[in-house]
Amino acid sequence: MRMVADGQTVIEEPADRLGRPLHDLRISLLDQCNFRCPYCMPESKYNEAYQFLTRAARLSHDEIVRIARIATGLGVTKLRLTGGEPLLDKRSPELVARLAVLPGVEDLAMTTNGMLLAPVVKDLADAGLQRVTVSLDSLDEDVFSRMSGGRGDAATVLAAIEAASAAGLAPVKINTVVQRGVNDHTIMDLLAHFRGTGHIVRLIEFMDVGNRNDWSLDQVVPSRTLLDRINARWPVCPVGRNYPGEVARRYEYVDGTGEIGFISSVTEPFCGSCSRARLSADGILYTCLFATRGTSLMDPLRQGADDEELAAILRRVWLRRADRYSETRRAGDTASPSGSKVEMYRIGG
Ligand SMILES: C[S@@+](CC[C@H](N)C(=O)[O-])C[C@H]1O[C@@H](n2cnc3c(N)ncnc32)[C@H](O)[C@@H]1O
Ligand code: SF4
Repeated sequence: MRMVADGQTVIEEPADRLGRPLHDLRISLLDQCNFRCPYCMPESKYNEAYQFLTRAARLSHDEIVRIARIATGLGVTKLRLTGGEPLLDKRSPELVARLAVLPGVEDLAMTTNGMLLAPVVKDLADAGLQRVTVSLDSLDEDVFSRMSGGRGDAATVLAAIEAASAAGLAPVKINTVVQRGVNDHTIMDLLAHFRGTGHIVRLIEFMDVGNRNDWSLDQVVPSRTLLDRINARWPVCPVGRNYPGEVARRYEYVDGTGEIGFISSVTEPFCGSCSRARLSADGILYTCLFATRGTSLMDPLRQGADDEELAAILRRVWLRRADRYSETRRAGDTASPSGSKVEMYRIGG
């Protein structure tokens, strides 16, 4: 345990078994999505036959706010709304407004595929959203269509990024999953588009999250390969992390046209500084993207647990946390989970 003074109150901040503090909570609003990205929710597995959570099986906004408040009492300062697609929740601006005023919240962000963003982005910003990350895998409409499962279009997402910027959420971070043979040939065009705009593209290695995306190592383009390719065309130099635990390795174009990031969970894992917990829409707390098990907060909450009891559960989960899957996977450690991993669309990126 470490004691942290935040001005007036003293927070008993838990550190896990590897000394990592709990600073971030990612909240998945719902498990549904309007896309079917093959690397996340392939249409073959997520079709009419698939049973998504019913509304009653999902945390209500009241329950989410309560858990977030308890988490901030343990030292969480950053909240991110994600999914599934968080903007399928039509009342997300109301939720943002309630989370934004929680004591201790310093950073409130959302990750979205952007298709539904433009009409609500001003409401979100007015409600207190501070940052938005928009996923965009390619500007080539054919490639985009393939990577969204035929559900979206790049032009709408680009317009949403501009709308977010106009609403005061600039710079926008743009998440781009890179898959060999699928969109890697369009990455330079995407970077060219955003150079000089202030928006920050983050190139993400295709990860072995979940069990249903037919992941294989040969579909991963190592960040190093991309970096060399980019550097040959537009020289870049590394810049330091903005804060401990930042997942992206940051680079700046030497000609001053902006910043890019690499999220290299496969080839350069960053478990050592991971301070993130993840809450699924059905109220299960996970401490790793690659977890095979979580701890229900919804069950005790609905059985009448008070705030202290819920805080004790959260604290206990964090104190016994020792997971560092990406690092053990890289080391070929047999302790890596081989069971059924939680799916990415259940706990967000
Ligand atoms: C699960 S989505 C949820 C939020 C929203 N639906 C979106 O796409 O932005 C969050 C992020 O996870 C990323 N993601 C999903 N599956 C992935 C995978 N297998 N490897 C790497 N990133 C992945 C997405 O590209 C997205 O940027
Ligand atoms: S990555 Fe996001 S947009 Fe794509 S299927 Fe998963 S949850 Fe939906």
